[in-house]
This record gives sequence, C-alpha cells and structure tokens, in this order.
Amino acid sequence: MDTLPKFTLPGILFLLTLVFGFWLSKVGKPYNGLLFNFHKLIALGAVVMMVVQFPKILKIADSPVLLIVFLVVAAFCVVALFASGALMSLGKLDYTLTLTIHRIAPVVLTIALGLMVYLLGRKL
Ligand code: HEM
Repeated sequence: MDTLPKFTLPGILFLLTLVFGFWLSKVGKPYNGLLFNFHKLIALGAVVMMVVQFPKILKIADSPVLLIVFLVVAAFCVVALFASGALMSLGKLDYTLTLTIHRIAPVVLTIALGLMVYLLGRKL
C-alpha cells in the first residue's frame, strides 16, 4: 500500500523540472545561469530519486516485463534530455533539432512514467 507515495517526491521534482524548463525557455538565450542550474540540478535530483525506487518497483511487480519496457523507454528519454540539454547550452549541434528532442522526450517520459505508476497502482 505504501508504493505510490514513493513516487511523490520524484514526481514533485519532475514537475519542478518542467516548470523551470519552461521558465528557462521563456527567458531565452543567453540562458539565465541560475534558472539553468536549478533546471539541471532538479532534473538530476528527480532522476536519482527515481533510480533509488527501481529495485523496490521491480520487486513488487509479479510480471515485470511491461514495466521493464517502460523503464527502458524512460531511461532512454532521460539520456536524450541530458544530452540535448547539454548540447543546447553549449550551442553544439543544430539548435532546432536539439530543442525538438528536448520537447518530445518529456512527453514520452511522462507517458512512460504514467503507465508505470498505473501498472503498479493496479497491483495495490
Ligand atoms: C528530466 C530531465 C529534464 C526535463 C524533463 C526537461 C524539460 C524541459 C522542458 C519542458 C523545457 C522547456 C522546452 C520548451 O520550451 O518547450 C526545457 C528547456 C530547457 N532545458 Fe530541460 N529538461 C530536463 C533536463 C535538462 C538538462 C539536464 C539540461 C542541461 C544539461 C537541460 C537544459 C535545458 C535548456 C537549455 C532549456 C531551454 C531550451 C530553449 O528553449 O532554448 N534540461 N527542459
């Protein structure tokens, strides 16, 4: 019964990451250093908090195949977000391409995480 609350802190950090991301985007280039670092560090915090929950998540799932598929998709999105975010801040690679990746990945990540929470929620 105490599984879903484990997602509360990573969930709040994820929402804060999105808020700071949109704020950073609104202020535009050159990026505000404080907003950029808040966005990046909160994102890192959210990822760490989520990774800490992985073993517990896999332990309570009787048939974890679908869950693992969503985990892999989520991990791929996180790597894409960190890579595209770093490339945008360094001004490397095509900006439109990296921004597009950085805009699509959070949507896919939210869907993957939502489905994981739904799958786990059904077991409780
Ligand atoms: C879980 C990880 C992350 C999520 C969910 C996330 C999400 C977002 C979102 C939603 C935006 C607003 C995009 C828009 O205008 O539509 C944004 C902007 C931005 N993010 Fe992230 N982000 C993450 C990690 C990072 C990291 C690690 C970095 C840097 C290394 C980064 C750098 C940026 C930059 C530079 C922008 C401004 C883009 C622009 O409009 O020029 N992000 N992020």
